[in-house]
Amino acid sequence: MKTPAKNPAKSPNKSSAERRTAIVTGAASGIGLATVVVLLREGWRVAGFDRDAGAIAKAKAQLAAHKANVRFYALDVTDEAATAALVGEVAKNFGPIKGVVTSAGIGADVPFFETTAALFRRMNDINVIGTFLTVQAAALAMRETGGGAIVTVASVSGLTGNRGRSAYGASKGAVVNLTRIMAVELARHRIRVNSIAPGPIETPMVAEVHTPDVRAQWYDTVPLKRYGTPEEIAEAAAFLLDEKCASYITGQVLAIDGGFSAAGLVDRDA
Ligand code: NAI
Repeated sequence: MKTPAKNPAKSPNKSSAERRTAIVTGAASGIGLATVVVLLREGWRVAGFDRDAGAIAKAKAQLAAHKANVRFYALDVTDEAATAALVGEVAKNFGPIKGVVTSAGIGADVPFFETTAALFRRMNDINVIGTFLTVQAAALAMRETGGGAIVTVASVSGLTGNRGRSAYGASKGAVVNLTRIMAVELARHRIRVNSIAPGPIETPMVAEVHTPDVRAQWYDTVPLKRYGTPEEIAEAAAFLLDEKCASYITGQVLAIDGGFSAAGLVDRDA
């Protein structure tokens, strides 16, 4: 992980009219944590949600120098009432909410015949319904304060038929189309909604799921011949949230995958 920029909060004494707060879910690890760091550097205040209290404690320690601008909260994004209540509290006491990045998610690489309905349900509960609940609660607040921007985190496995991804890929495919529908319905409230679809990114989730054999297959099929970093995803999320950069972009899915989703035959030994 890159070290946080020297002055991540460009103007810590901003007036309330200038403040912009982003909610990041899955904020204590991997892509979510990198997104918190990049958004702080870009002058956002950040409310980070994660269900893992231990990881939150570590993230807080890592970002102790920025504690005026970042708050972490323990939340399971599948808990409808708790998500609505926490987003409401953030909007009231740490708002206005102008950005959301939904990075909370789980992955699994399980052959089709071994995929259970229980795994499918769990994947949908966290990856799809968790995304929906977070965005719905935040968009309700944004609607009252002039709009904002939302970035969901899908996956290249939601765009292509990667083997072993019946449950995971189906859930991420749902996130992709949910994103488009939310973009259409929320446009009238000046809320933009886009999705990023990462390829293989070096995070704790990947350390758990990617065997040496899986890694070799990614190296064979990613034209840039490497895994991405969480920071490379975070920079794109920050770009899509930024009104100066992305004010006319909504309903889009940006693959950040070293060329994987664009490729056909690739050079094995490049
Ligand atoms: P990670 O495991 O490092 O971080 C995910 C975080 O989400 C963890 O801190 C975890 O505690 C939190 N989380 C999980 N379920 C939660 C829940 N119900 N409520 C609140 N927090 C919850 O994983 P990583 O790699 O950073 O993944 C982030 C997102 O990016 C996920 O949605 C994942 O599917 C997606 N993604 C990751 C890729 C990769 O190669 N790392 C590739 C494509 C997509």
